[in-house]
Amino acid sequence: MIKKGIILAGGLGTRMSPLTKAVNKHLLPIYDKPVFFYPLSVLMLSGIKDILIIVNKGQLSQFKKILPNGNNLGIKITYAEQKNPKGLPDAFLIGEKFINKDNVALILGDNFFYAQSLTKKLKECVKLHKGATVILHPVRNPSSYGIASINKKNKIRKIVEKPKKSFSNLAVTGLYFFDNKVINYSKKLKPSKRNELEIIDLLKKYKNNNKLTAQFLGRGGAWLDTGSINDFYDTSAFVSALENRQGLKIACLEEIALNNGWINKKNIETAIKFYGKCSYSQYLSTLIKK
Ligand code: TTP
Repeated sequence: MIKKGIILAGGLGTRMSPLTKAVNKHLLPIYDKPVFFYPLSVLMLSGIKDILIIVNKGQLSQFKKILPNGNNLGIKITYAEQKNPKGLPDAFLIGEKFINKDNVALILGDNFFYAQSLTKKLKECVKLHKGATVILHPVRNPSSYGIASINKKNKIRKIVEKPKKSFSNLAVTGLYFFDNKVINYSKKLKPSKRNELEIIDLLKKYKNNNKLTAQFLGRGGAWLDTGSINDFYDTSAFVSALENRQGLKIACLEEIALNNGWINKKNIETAIKFYGKCSYSQYLSTLIKK
């Protein structure tokens, strides 16, 4: 069972420059919430309450202004700094003490997930005891992504970063579930040509032992990488369209915590005071009037 999760919210944000020259991209708005609320909501929907958020050096105070420690969500938030962007598996080196002897989920701070029965699928993933699970989703242009093919039992057969020759349209998304071996495997990784530790190299270690399993969002699901300008605005439009049509918010952290039984009406009242007069607070007040 996975009870710990890491959100990787550092990185250079080159593709979003100049927006990211002064601000971490995970603090920019996707419609009505900061980017990092979305991956945090995914971990919370999985039932994970012990969460490490990794940010760039010097940015802790900005994140803590929005989310000091998780108390008001009934969860535990710990922060760590990454000195420079050494690649995704660096999360397990920075997070070694936090992970300790446990299994762990990793979600990229700029990834957006929305799908039918997402919670049910996530709850399946956190049952992981041994090995690793990745979430795959089809893409139109496989040569821009980490791509995997699977066998009939949903085990990963082949995994290639930005393949020149197409062999599958299933991209490896930014949500991963690992057993504790992930720490030692990450320690053994060597930097790639671009001088980063590569997540695909880490996943290959599991694949070579036949321990890498696929889970799927399903055809109606959306997976977007908000780290590029176009996807950033597409994601905002997607959230705006759904929220305004349904009257239900995506990634309202307090709503998830309330539904999970982690907080009560009083915490919601505190949150309303904290956020002040805004549509997010108005939504929160409808939750406790029900
Ligand atoms: P990327 O989007 O691949 O990299 P980036 O954020 O530096 O952006 P760009 O390519 O535009 O320069 O990173 C994926 C996610 O992981 C993103 O949320 C940032 C985070 N990240 C880190 O926190 N540390 C790292 O060392 C890297 C490479 C990424």
